[in-house]
Amino acid sequence: MLTDNITRVKKDFSKDIADVKDIGDLEEIRIKYLGRNGIISKLFDQLKDVPKDDKPAVGKELNLLRINVTSQFEKLQTSLASEKDEKESKVDLTLPGKKYQIGSKHILTQTLDEMKSIFKGMGFSIHEGPELESDYYNFEALNFPHDHPARDMQDTFFINEDFLLRTHTSPVQIRLMENMKPPVRAIMPGRVYRNEAVSARSYCMFHQVEGLYVDTDVTFAELKGTLVAFAHQYYGKDLKYRFRPSFFPFTEPSAEMDITCFMCKGEGCNICKYTGWLEILGCGMVHPNVFKSVNYDSEKYTGYAFGMGIERIAMLKYGITDIRIFFENDFRFLKQF
Ligand code: PHE
Repeated sequence: MLTDNITRVKKDFSKDIADVKDIGDLEEIRIKYLGRNGIISKLFDQLKDVPKDDKPAVGKELNLLRINVTSQFEKLQTSLASEKDEKESKVDLTLPGKKYQIGSKHILTQTLDEMKSIFKGMGFSIHEGPELESDYYNFEALNFPHDHPARDMQDTFFINEDFLLRTHTSPVQIRLMENMKPPVRAIMPGRVYRNEAVSARSYCMFHQVEGLYVDTDVTFAELKGTLVAFAHQYYGKDLKYRFRPSFFPFTEPSAEMDITCFMCKGEGCNICKYTGWLEILGCGMVHPNVFKSVNYDSEKYTGYAFGMGIERIAMLKYGITDIRIFFENDFRFLKQF
């Protein structure tokens, strides 16, 4: 009889629902009793066999069963869900906190920041250029004759016949002058590449800061004054320096600036090859041919340029004797700065 079945289902459901432990169990019960092919829907199917007179009463009972089962199911569902929320959001205040490691700037970034701020203080703006350069910007426009040894495969990483990894930051001078009229007073920091054997003194990649000042009546004395002012601010007032004549295709006259060896303080040692001096930069007055390639009137304008290696500048300040250490990411080295 259907009424007996209804009574049995009521009992079974009470037992089943008492055993529910989690949302998973509850879902099983929903399918078992309330699903499309569930027990209750099967009971409704049996209604058609009930004698006509009994139908309203039995139907009512069946409806009540469904309402009852549904409401018990929903009640339990809500309480299980809020229990789960509570568990997940519980903060355990006794757990030890997470310690975050504070990072710091790489020593080269720190050095460059300091250099930038000194040159900014002297009225220089800051510009950058691409590391992948054309032969034109890296050599041609800088007055490198076609057979100049620096174009040799030994020094330059060529990409193809026309493109290369820049060997210095001087190409940015050209890009800058192409895009603005004098006066130009800028420094141009960046990464450069040389196809050289890696050793304590040289690496296949390093960083330079280029400097350029073009205006009417710019003199070599101003170049010296600016570089000495930089060196004194960066290394201190007691620093000893000297300028030596040198050669670069894009400057005339050209010079190199040396400072006292940090190791032997000028006595002579293996770091300075027993000269007592270490070179920190190349510089000179911009060559008229360079002005020609950017359509500046070399009768009207003069200018100076300089280029220094950031690694070298830092090595001399901190007494670092091997350039490779900058790029090894050895924490013991990095955390000293
Ligand atoms: N570009 C030169 C180098 O890499 C340095 C330099 C820059 C010299 C500007 C003179 C003027 O060696």
